[in-house]
Amino acid sequence: MKKRILIIGASGQIGTDLTIQLRAKFGNHKVIATDIRDDDGTLGKDGPFEVLDAMDYKAIEDVVIRYEITDVYLLAAMLSATAEKFPMRAWNLNMNSLFNVLNLAKEKKIKKVFWPSSIAVFGPTTPSTNTPQKTVMEPSTVYGISKQAGERWCEYYFNKYGVDVRSIRYPGLISYKTLPGGGTTDYAVDIYHKALKHGKYICFLSEKTTLPMMYIDDAIRATLSIMEAPKESIKVRSSYNLAGISFSPEEIAESVKKQVLNFEISYAPDFRQEIADSWPQSIDDSDAQKDWGWKNNTTLEGMTLIMLENLKEYI
Ligand code: SER
Repeated sequence: MKKRILIIGASGQIGTDLTIQLRAKFGNHKVIATDIRDDDGTLGKDGPFEVLDAMDYKAIEDVVIRYEITDVYLLAAMLSATAEKFPMRAWNLNMNSLFNVLNLAKEKKIKKVFWPSSIAVFGPTTPSTNTPQKTVMEPSTVYGISKQAGERWCEYYFNKYGVDVRSIRYPGLISYKTLPGGGTTDYAVDIYHKALKHGKYICFLSEKTTLPMMYIDDAIRATLSIMEAPKESIKVRSSYNLAGISFSPEEIAESVKKQVLNFEISYAPDFRQEIADSWPQSIDDSDAQKDWGWKNNTTLEGMTLIMLENLKEYI
């Protein structure tokens, strides 16, 4: 079967790294990168790039037909912190984009869908350490509500219409190629930029706020491997828990201090503190390990070295 991949929201934090790795694996011209914003020169130089609105069903359908797309990765979304400021816009974007892609699959115009969920599906009443795959889920953020509803719809489309949709509950993701936009875990990227630029950082979360996080290479590897797994081995059709590394601002600051001598951190928690407090501290991902062989590789210390080394070039 000839595989042709469409990435919606390709210029974002996950999309940039994912596009590069999918192109390396399947060939540049087989991976169509699209985003609401025009290409800034990163993705368009090596393969097809188109401006595409995830809310526009007809426009997505047109790209799908034109390029004979088989697999869609839907990465367009409004993240947790921004969604609190624009609740209805977040809901409309996060849900309508998902329905557009699920309906294309239901109509057999595409074969396979990847859609990311998040640790934000959990809420203040969820057990916060080693959070199980199946547990209390009462998300208290707009973003979390949209992801939880999205998970229910993914499972529904699989059960009722046989749509092969696969999903991961990503933790906070850390990468150097692209900045995250509007998330609660963004501090863990920003801290490296500020450490190199100014030698100090003011963190918008408090020092002991432990959250589940992951280095981007591990997240992309997880994405490729869940998408490659045989259909029968995907037993969870809502979304899989995925654990990487859990740390607090204080702990990441300690790891930065080992590399950037005299680095200083101070704390000024804002509205994002409440969002972070509603999320788990660590995740039990034994189902992902069992069903499709997931294992995290990168440690906090290892990630700090990679981030600082690579960011030096950009700063
Ligand atoms: N990193 C995301 C956020 O902070 C969580 O999925 O919104």
